[in-house]
Amino acid sequence: MSNIERIIYEAMEKIKNSDDEMLENIRSEYFGKNGILTKILKSLSHYSIEDRKRIGFETNKAKTNLESEIEKRRKGLKKTLIVQKMQREKLDCSSIFYFPFPKGSFHPIVQTIQDMILTFKSLGFLVAEGPEIETDWYNFEALNIPKNHPAKDIQDTFYLDSMKNLLLRTHTSPGQIRVMEKQKPPIKVVVPGRVYRNESSDASHSSTFHQIEGLRVDKNVTFLDLKIILTKFIHSFFCYELNVRFRPSYFQFTEPSAEVDVQCLFCMGRGCKVCKNSGWIEMLGCGMLHPNVLGSVNYDSELYTGYAFGMGVERITMLKYKIDDIRLFYENDLRFLKQF
Ligand code: DAH
Repeated sequence: MSNIERIIYEAMEKIKNSDDEMLENIRSEYFGKNGILTKILKSLSHYSIEDRKRIGFETNKAKTNLESEIEKRRKGLKKTLIVQKMQREKLDCSSIFYFPFPKGSFHPIVQTIQDMILTFKSLGFLVAEGPEIETDWYNFEALNIPKNHPAKDIQDTFYLDSMKNLLLRTHTSPGQIRVMEKQKPPIKVVVPGRVYRNESSDASHSSTFHQIEGLRVDKNVTFLDLKIILTKFIHSFFCYELNVRFRPSYFQFTEPSAEVDVQCLFCMGRGCKVCKNSGWIEMLGCGMLHPNVLGSVNYDSELYTGYAFGMGVERITMLKYKIDDIRLFYENDLRFLKQF
């Protein structure tokens, strides 16, 4: 064994059993100012050129090997420390759970959206989504809502910039434009989502709520198709053949427009406080797509017709579960939520 080989052998043996502090000592013992290997390198000038080359090469190689061995040991020590720490801190979770396990559940609004989507899927609709931050074009202009319309007032809409271009969508109807922009007819989609209105909250209003939008565009879509699909939806969603009526109404983006009332679920149409003795409850807005809306996405309104509808999820959930205050949905009171 050459001199340098012996030095390396000894050093390796020391490294094997060292802790962090000892490793530091070994480093200075070998590579420090007066370290063993440093000294050899310093003394090279005493040797012949031939020996100088060989000893220099071997010493530098020894240096690299020892450095990497020290590093390896250091990493190994660190790992051991972490494992020891984890073992010390190991949690015994067996006593946290008890039987029967407490079950979480979906929020009633999420449940209603899921039920609605399932019902619409069974009627052949696909599901699309749109952004909650919209531009004036998608939320108003493309939907034929004129510049001076009251809905565009700062009192009703949350604008995000002083130019009144970016805003929080006030309804899911911009979803119609986004879908039509991306694809050609035939289209049959629903767009669920959260919407925002700049208004103070009370038992039946909230500045944040949910809607689900429906859209069908194809050749020869008629108002009758709309009546059939919405009646089927209502019967299927409420699992009961409630009476349904279409009442003429007005929306900028549909012509003709209608509002749909359903037989009051509270009194089954006999008349009560909830339906203000009319026997009917207003449920959604709908109509045939206005030619200007089709035009805004460059659809030929001579060739295609379509219907759209939009309904408030909170309102329908309140009807279904007989809830009388919309604010209950947002308070996260477990006594309320656990009933669903
Ligand atoms: N966007 C309307 C609203 O927020 C609801 C609505 C009415 C949507 C008629 C429609 C529709 O698609 O055809 O009050």
